[in-house]
Amino acid sequence: MNGKPAARGCFITFEGIDGSGKSTQARLLAEHLKANGRDVVLTREPGGSSGAEEIRKLVLEGDPERWSAETEILLFTAARRDHLERTIRPALASGKVVICDRFADSTRMYQGLSRGDLRPVVDQLHSLMIGQEPDLTLLIDMDPDTGLSRAKARQGTEERFEDFGPDLQRRMRAGFLALAKEFPDRFRVVDGGRDIETVAKDVADIVTRSLL
Ligand code: ADP
Ligand code: TYD
Repeated sequence: MNGKPAARGCFITFEGIDGSGKSTQARLLAEHLKANGRDVVLTREPGGSSGAEEIRKLVLEGDPERWSAETEILLFTAARRDHLERTIRPALASGKVVICDRFADSTRMYQGLSRGDLRPVVDQLHSLMIGQEPDLTLLIDMDPDTGLSRAKARQGTEERFEDFGPDLQRRMRAGFLALAKEFPDRFRVVDGGRDIETVAKDVADIVTRSLL
């Protein structure tokens, strides 16, 4: 074949408890990479495609007891499948950097651990319907009380897991750190308890070293 090989896209996800600074850091990383000439798609879950944004409303608005634990897993997975088909895979195929605020690790944690041990169901559905892992996952780790107070300061109509209180936030933090040990090749843990610029510099250094 003639010509240069197609640029390889890369898939970066941010994970962590509510209020840890994921959205802020995802946006700053996108700006940093764009300033360095990369083609970047900044996206989020649940959401990131028009169908998945509709499902986001179904899972995050209204009565939190509306769905059974199993139905909730199906809805998050349906949203992810649409996002993958319409946004993530096309962007990766054209050599872009995809930065996603939450992905399957959030389902492993929130749906897998919060209402009984449903991790095996989450994993089975993931391998059946998604089958894609990020190249790099930045876990923004932080003290749950600080995360909760940051998250609570935001306004909005969405029911988030932060509303379930500090105990769940603590279990989620421990769960995310355990997940980082389970998948050490792609996870990097970043201390989110520092000022925004210091965290952003750490994130940019990790991404430069790991991927670009
Ligand atoms: P997440 O997406 O993890 O829920 P956000 O990025 O939305 O977190 O941040 C939650 C709130 O905390 C926002 O108001 C944001 O401006 C603020 N914030 C984010 N990172 C920091 C930080 N390192 N120090 C102080 N406040 C922060
Ligand atoms: P998000 O908008 O990232 O919230 P935050 O900025 O507060 O971190 O995500 C909304 C909520 O959706 C959050 O409480 C976590 C939850 N969630 C799941 O329960 N499962 C999932 O698979 C995803 C992607 C999110």
